[in-house]
Amino acid sequence: MAEVRARLSGVTKVFESGNGRVHALGPLDLDLGAGEFVTIVGPSGCGKTTLLETLAGLTAPTDGTVSFEGKPVGDEVPAGVGVVFQEDASFPWLNVWDNIAFGLRRAGVAAAEIRARVTYAIAFMGLQAFARAYPAQLSGGMRQRVCIARTLVLQPRLILLDEPFGALDQQTRLLMGDELLRLWRETHATVLLITHAIDEAVMLADRVGVMSARPGRFIELIETGWPASRSSAIVAEEAFGKLTAHVWSRLRGESLRALGRTEAEPAGSVS
Ligand SMILES: Nc1ncnc2c1ncn2[C@@H]1O[C@H](COP(=O)(O)OP(=O)(O)OP(=O)(O)O)[C@@H](O)[C@H]1O
Ligand SMILES: [Mg+2]
Repeated sequence: MAEVRARLSGVTKVFESGNGRVHALGPLDLDLGAGEFVTIVGPSGCGKTTLLETLAGLTAPTDGTVSFEGKPVGDEVPAGVGVVFQEDASFPWLNVWDNIAFGLRRAGVAAAEIRARVTYAIAFMGLQAFARAYPAQLSGGMRQRVCIARTLVLQPRLILLDEPFGALDQQTRLLMGDELLRLWRETHATVLLITHAIDEAVMLADRVGVMSARPGRFIELIETGWPASRSSAIVAEEAFGKLTAHVWSRLRGESLRALGRTEAEPAGSVS
């Protein structure tokens, strides 16, 4: 692997609350190389968001260590790391332009630079006609694009995305994936993207991590072997079909396990 940009080492997360103890994650290890694109799929509730929050410094691991560019991750998002959350996190009181400019203004970036970067991000996300609109006037998918743009304008060296295209239809999802690949090629950022869509996970990644049911661990990390120049056109290729079938076969049993079922007891079966 190229130089390691971020590392999870022996990471475990156990949540203790009034309702008891949930072993959400690990122990697991993961190295993200400089400029690498990694996607993660796993059953609902297996700890994917927890893993991402641990890397972002938003959740402290119960055990193990997390580092970014060789330095331990503390209890805040390190400079150079950008996060796109699973839920819509746009600011309802700011229009699209101001939502996207927010982080740049806070970082004290010069006005001309802000204008250039926000203009680029708005065009990149196809939001030109809505720069002055407020989040409530947008569709769910458009709001999510605002959130992605808001992170990308900060030009992070590690981009963490938690089901960023979940609110989009299949076609838009694949096309947004193409845009993300283009951005990744241009910026050499390291990308970690969580998704429940196997086709998206396989198309985008250099490596796909398949997670077990909770507590989430990697049951397989698969190198796709795709060239950096890949696009959604790859979905028509035979190799793509084989890889998605393989990922699904690994995931199926884990997803059943997460739902508390086994192969022998399908949903609704009468014995
Ligand atoms: N703050 C918290 N307090 C207590 N338990 C939590 C907390 N956050 C997450 N959990 C538990 O940890 C487990 C993993 O949650 P997480 O959100 O990481 O799953 P996920 O894989 O992202 O699921 P999904 O695919 O549905 O988004 C779940 O059982 C959840 O109930
Ligand atoms: Mg989640």
